[in-house]
Amino acid sequence: MASTMSEEINSAMDRVMEKNEKIQMKKFATKMSANEFELFTTFIHGKFGMDITENKKHMLEIKVNRLMAQNRMEDYMQYYNMISTTRDKQKTVEFLNEITINKTDFFREINHFNFMKNHLNFIMKKNHRIEAAKEIRVWSSACSTGEEPYTLAITLKEILPANISIKILATDISHRVLEKAITGQYSNDIKSQVDPILLTKYFNKIHNGYEIKQEIKDLITFRAFNLKEPFPFKNKFDIIFCRNVMIYFDKEFQEKLVGKFYDFIINGGILFIGHSESLTYIKNRFKYHQPTIYVKE
Ligand SMILES: C[S@@+](CC[C@H](N)C(=O)[O-])C[C@H]1O[C@@H](n2cnc3c(N)ncnc32)[C@H](O)[C@@H]1O
Repeated sequence: MASTMSEEINSAMDRVMEKNEKIQMKKFATKMSANEFELFTTFIHGKFGMDITENKKHMLEIKVNRLMAQNRMEDYMQYYNMISTTRDKQKTVEFLNEITINKTDFFREINHFNFMKNHLNFIMKKNHRIEAAKEIRVWSSACSTGEEPYTLAITLKEILPANISIKILATDISHRVLEKAITGQYSNDIKSQVDPILLTKYFNKIHNGYEIKQEIKDLITFRAFNLKEPFPFKNKFDIIFCRNVMIYFDKEFQEKLVGKFYDFIINGGILFIGHSESLTYIKNRFKYHQPTIYVKE
């Protein structure tokens, strides 16, 4: 868990600290006092559910310093007073875009996609709705820049009979990542993540990378959604992916969230969580199937 977490924090830090920004940062970088840290973390927790612990203080300092620079402020309290009271939605979005960690990849934690491929019978037998309704409803609940829902769409397209329609809802709290996800455009780096056969089949080559084909885009609806908010869905899901986001939430919120996932999954449906996450220590009604895979029975 620790290595995954520090990996994510490091890569997030690399992203926020592009060369020019590092220069700008130097001018503004200051240490946050214990009181300032408490104010920011309480605000973030109350509004977005994210739990920022003492060991992530430096990351928070870097991110808030960057926001202060953008807003031409040099003082944590000045920025805090603005962000905690502002009615300017754009300022809140800008703050949120900065503090979220969006690391993701195509076929990340591949055993989940292999599980679907190798245990399709299990999935269909547990949950008769898929066959009966001729559709599968999947929710990628913290989808970041889209790699996870696109991987789901490709995997399901590969393994499901053609008469079953695939409906994927992909949500994230950050508008910035959703904008990128919707384009479906990725750099050449994805060549190391996607099998060459699937790359040819489901992506178009564009000048500086690859773009997901329309037939896959059509299977996904992207929406902004804060997991802290009440779930607005009319219908339940057959599968929910909630990977690599619960680690940022405290235990109380994790329990609430997993309880809501349970209520919004069909009987026999499956919840997938991130490899560094576990439901072992939180109260929940799911049946453990294998690490990071839980079934509603
Ligand atoms: C590390 S990424 C995980 C992406 C993907 N699920 C994966 O495992 O590759 C975590 C995502 O959770 C989103 N997030 C953080 N807090 C959230 C919240 N309260 N509601 C919805 N999404 C949230 C972030 O914006 C970020 O894109």
